[in-house]
Order: sequence, then C-alpha cells, then structure tokens
Amino acid sequence: MPSQPAEDPRSFDSFAAVYDRFAALTGDPLRAYLRTALPDHGSRALDAGCGTGRHTVLLADRFDEVLAVDLSKPMLDLARQHRARPNVTYDRCDLGELYPGRDGRFDLVLSVHTLHHVPQPELHQALRGLRDLVAPGGFAMLIDIVDSRGRVTRWQHRAYAARRLASDLLRGGPGRALEIYGACTHPAWLAHVATDRFLSPGAFRAQYAEVFPGAAFTRIDRALALTWQAPPTAASRKSQRPA
Ligand SMILES: C[S@@+](CC[C@H](N)C(=O)[O-])C[C@H]1O[C@@H](n2cnc3c(N)ncnc32)[C@H](O)[C@@H]1O
Repeated sequence: MPSQPAEDPRSFDSFAAVYDRFAALTGDPLRAYLRTALPDHGSRALDAGCGTGRHTVLLADRFDEVLAVDLSKPMLDLARQHRARPNVTYDRCDLGELYPGRDGRFDLVLSVHTLHHVPQPELHQALRGLRDLVAPGGFAMLIDIVDSRGRVTRWQHRAYAARRLASDLLRGGPGRALEIYGACTHPAWLAHVATDRFLSPGAFRAQYAEVFPGAAFTRIDRALALTWQAPPTAASRKSQRPA
C-alpha cells in the first residue's frame, strides 16, 4: 500500500515539480546511457518507481505495453500530464506489491534511482520480487546512486550544490546553473536527501549480484547500473501475460 504521508521527508509529494525540473536539467548522461543500453524492442516493460515518467517514455518508444508504478501521486500526476502515451499505464502502487500472478512478467524490468528508498532489511526481498517479474530471456536494468559515505547530510549536499554551481556556471549560462542550484537547495529536497541511505559501490555489487548472479555493472556518474538477463526458455521471446 502507498505508505508515505506527504509530510514524510522521504516522500516526493511536496517537491514533485522541483524534482522533475532538476531531472530534466541534469539527466542527460543517464538518458544517453539508456538510449544505447535498452533493448530495441519488446512486448512488455515495467518502470518500477517511475516518478514523473522521464524514462517511461523511452520505454514507450520501444515496447508494445508499459506499466509504470510509483508511490507518489503528485509524481504520477506530472507523468500523466506531461508524459502520457497510449501504450503506458501509470499506476500508484508500491513496487513490492507487484507479482507475476497479477501483473504478469516483463521483457524488461527497469528501476532508476528508486531502490535506495527501500529500507535495507527489505531490499533483498524487493530485488527478488523484481527478478521474479522478469520473463524468461528478458532483462532487468536496475540503476541507483551509490555513495561510500552511506548518507549525505544537508550540509554536505549544500557543499555539493555550491561546487556544482561553480562548474555549471563555467560550462553553461547562469540561468541553467542557478536553476539547478535552486533545486538542489530547495528545503524539501534537502530534507529528503538527509533521509536517503546509499549503498557503497562494493555493497551494491555484492547485494545485487546475490539476487542477479552473473549481472554486469556499469558506472554512470554517481550511479551504478545492473544489467541481467533471465535464463531463457523455449518460449523466451514470448512475454507472459497474467493468467
Ligand atoms: C529519485 S525518484 C526517481 C524517479 C524516476 N525513476 C527517475 O529516474 O526520474 C524516486 C521515485 O521512487 C518512488 N518510490 C520510492 N519508493 C518506492 C516504492 N517502494 N515503490 C514505488 N515507488 C517508490 C518515489 O515516489 C519517487 O518518485
């Protein structure tokens, strides 16, 4: 069940538009990675923790049918408003509630910058749940921020924002640089960042590889991307639908 009240700093409800704009301004490296790494075509894809749908639309261009789920109603409202597609269903639910008997299996299970919000004791089960949703021969692509410090305080994040402002001013115009700085230091965003708990790169590889043996890992800026292919069966190219 959706279980984050809007006033809970972990929730994205109170800064959905700020996040969406920040992601639009800074998300190019990740979008470029996904454009080259995503399968060209498939039947069904899942975006687990889709936020405002910025990657869901990439899936919509390649898959016949896309299910995009998120806990936050304001994030989903923006996704439906700006990134509606005829082959996408946006659904408000916890990614841990998805299961093959109801939702079927997917040729691609994508999750970006979401799984660090799942508390550590439950992460293993969440990863297993996502793995079970991958159709035989299908792919999981799980991308998340890693940080050896484990957590980043508000002041560390402010310092990051200031360093980033300096380099953004040098690289581009002041308008974009100041907008990114404003988003990074937005009070609700700072409160949220202080609740984030990240895996170190080593712990990410170890925990994810335990559930996805043989997975490949790619570094993308502050994130690690896991790519894993489920063992194929005779019917591996056919996606499985709910019974
Ligand atoms: C940092 S945003 C990333 C959104 C999107 N994937 C992107 O890359 O722009 C994390 C999202 O995960 C959602 N989220 C956190 N925990 C979740 C859960 N257990 N189930 C579904 N969504 C979750 C939040 O509401 C938020 O929209």
